[in-house]
Amino acid sequence: MKKRFIAAVLIFAVLIAGATGLVWFGAYNVGADEPHWPITYALMQTIRNRSIAVRAEDLPIPNLNDPKVVLKGAGQYAAMCTGCHLAPGMRDSEIRPGLYPQPPDLSRQRVDPRVAFWAIKHGIKMSAMPAWGFSHDDATIWSMVAFLQKLPGMTPAQYKAIVAKAPPDEDMDMDMSGDHDHASGDKP
Ligand code: HEC
Repeated sequence: MKKRFIAAVLIFAVLIAGATGLVWFGAYNVGADEPHWPITYALMQTIRNRSIAVRAEDLPIPNLNDPKVVLKGAGQYAAMCTGCHLAPGMRDSEIRPGLYPQPPDLSRQRVDPRVAFWAIKHGIKMSAMPAWGFSHDDATIWSMVAFLQKLPGMTPAQYKAIVAKAPPDEDMDMDMSGDHDHASGDKP
């Protein structure tokens, strides 16, 4: 009994020493240009999907068909998201090919509203997805979700038209007063 216990402690100590060695000698490549092993990637995807699904499942969804809300979301999306998630008529961005995991192309792929709200508000660790909840209230985040429901299938011309009509991204006024990158006639 005692011998077994000592053996177990020794095995544990060797494993800890081995793991510490792997960390210390830099065996793990953190470069974003080398993919994970398929099993690591599958595990991370499952952790991510389950984590979001569990936290998002009871979120009450507001009316996402209100044209004013969709319009507001269009302005937000054009100002903050296209570099990583693209837009109709956009082939690629400079940042996107280097991101790992790759951001989904939200101009083609429709996301579940609750999952989208949660991911936008809280961001996703160990990916490039920021937590926009630090700088945006829930209503603004829902407007982005509303827009994302309409985005897949929009033509480049429809996309351009809705962004041109959208109100300016007022949250930008926090530190860059009035420095908007899209035109709008109804700026206060
Ligand atoms: C710097 C790059 C970057 C920016 C900017 C960015 N995202 Fe993301 N986003 C990502 C990445 C990367 C993922 C995927 C993370 C993963 O798979 O683990 C992601 C995931 C998402 C998802 C989850 C999709 C799904 O299928 O679960 C949504 C929704 C989303 N982003 C919306 C937005 C919106 C809206 C904005 C703008 C306010 C935005 N993102 C800005 C990189 C970005």
